Amino acid sequence: MSLLSAPSARSALPAGPRRPALDVHQLSALTRSIAARPELWQPLVRFQESGRWWTRLDAPAGVDVWLITWLPAQGTELHDHGDSSAAFTIAGGTVTEIRPAVDGRLVPQELTAGRTQTVEPHDLHDVLNAGTEPAVTIHAYSVPLTRMTYWSRTDDGVLVPARTVVTDEPESNA
Ligand SMILES: [Fe+2]
Repeated sequence: MSLLSAPSARSALPAGPRRPALDVHQLSALTRSIAARPELWQPLVRFQESGRWWTRLDAPAGVDVWLITWLPAQGTELHDHGDSSAAFTIAGGTVTEIRPAVDGRLVPQELTAGRTQTVEPHDLHDVLNAGTEPAVTIHAYSVPLTRMTYWSRTDDGVLVPARTVVTDEPESNA
């Protein structure tokens, strides 16, 4: 995670013309196309025991693309991506995505390699590797991620915002 106080490469760039954001359909086409070209990401894959590992990939203006790796039991928490649209494609292995149903129940769905999911701005989800094999995913955000809100569930099953993190890195837990 990078806090606002941490200078990022982006902040050092001169302000250019603002590019229109991509929608979830355009983002899903992008993550699918990258996942289908393992030469773009496979040589970069690393895993770390301390938590999910990620690195930024080349991306069009106005989009952030990240390669994320997940060892078994590694995951996020229930969160949204603020104003960013997002999509992710499972490039290897299997992850489980959890989304709240209309009645507040949290519904898990297993996603195997090749599957792509979209996440609209302010939608909630959680992703984890609930399996026994490592997993690799390709994520795209537009506008680039700037803040994530983490949500918790009360004893009554009501989802409430727990904390908001300013970040330009994906799926951070801090
Ligand atoms: Fe997410």
